[in-house]
Amino acid sequence: MVGVAVLGCGRIGQIHARNLARHRRARLVSVFDVRAEAAAPTAAELGVPAARSVEEVLADAEVAAVLIATPTDTHVPLITAAVKAGKAVLCEKPVDLDIKRARACWAEIAHRKPSVMIGFNRRFDPSFRALRERLQRGEIGTLELAVITSRDPAPPPPAYLKGSGGLLRDMTIHDFDMARYLAGDIAEVQAFGANLVDPDIGKLGDIDTCTVALRSAAGALVQISNSRRCAYGYDQRIEVFGAQGMLQAGNLRATSVEHWGSERTAARDPVLDFFLERYRQAYESELNAFVAAFEEGRPMTPDFGDGLAALRLAEAAEESLLTRRAVDVGG
Ligand SMILES: NC(=O)c1ccc[n+]([C@@H]2O[C@H](COP(=O)([O-])OP(=O)(O)OC[C@H]3O[C@@H](n4cnc5c(N)ncnc54)[C@H](O)[C@@H]3O)[C@@H](O)[C@H]2O)c1
Repeated sequence: MVGVAVLGCGRIGQIHARNLARHRRARLVSVFDVRAEAAAPTAAELGVPAARSVEEVLADAEVAAVLIATPTDTHVPLITAAVKAGKAVLCEKPVDLDIKRARACWAEIAHRKPSVMIGFNRRFDPSFRALRERLQRGEIGTLELAVITSRDPAPPPPAYLKGSGGLLRDMTIHDFDMARYLAGDIAEVQAFGANLVDPDIGKLGDIDTCTVALRSAAGALVQISNSRRCAYGYDQRIEVFGAQGMLQAGNLRATSVEHWGSERTAARDPVLDFFLERYRQAYESELNAFVAAFEEGRPMTPDFGDGLAALRLAEAAEESLLTRRAVDVGG
């Protein structure tokens, strides 16, 4: 049994805490949130203590690993403190908004050979995982084109957007990781961004719509399509294409029932509305992978380096938006 504490009891922290509480090979030891009122309901629901400080969590010998589900700007200090206390870490994405700060964090802890996994949950979605395995088995030949579609149902509140780091670092970061997951190292990035959904997002200096084109070091082309608004729900699809055909993984629906009538055919339930529902199984599988790697002393993946690589692509895409040129990332 791996003893785990959850730091941050917000939207995603609650999901992880519940998954840990019912995990067969992990034990939820405690939860902590800087707002005691946020930790109390989760602690009560799951029957674990709410710790009074990060220090208390890190001093607890029962805690072998921490799951960091706090706002992004706290990830680097919390990863650093947890690793120095000898704990394994599963930290939510992104590692940080600033690649220099993220690199400095790694420089400070790398000599300890820490076990750090980054929460790129989409790698653990059963369909995306199966698609990648079949791609790697050569079912469609060498990868030539990949299309990654990721559109949120509605923009987050302005308060979240202010601290989010912008569309590319907050949202597209998942797609940059998927691009690497499917196509390997990336050599070149070109981004187009627009403010088409909500003028208030533009006033914050952010974009709400983008397409990003990437060229992999092996020569494949990847296209990412993002929007902060999607009328039919949370649109999450992947397509890979090669000489022998195509593999596609599509959206999930609550049921597979179809209605065929006089006005339309094959009408189905809307796609699952947002990440907590769409990636429910992925969060569970991510945790299973973390616990198994910890128990078996295997390297964690996706690791800190994957977190840095995705952030580097976000930074390059931002540079491309500003310069209106493709950016060489040296893959
Ligand atoms: N992988 C995914 O699908 C996914 C989805 C959502 C969010 N995230 C990431 O998870 C992180 C949290 O996002 P969220 O939407 O759950 O945020 P949230 O605001 O809902 O929750 C964050 C919680 O952390 C608490 N907190 C703040 N500073 C803290 C600290 N130093 N120690 C302990 N608790 C602290 C806050 O009080 C809050 O309750 C972000 O980095 C975000 O990018 C990932």
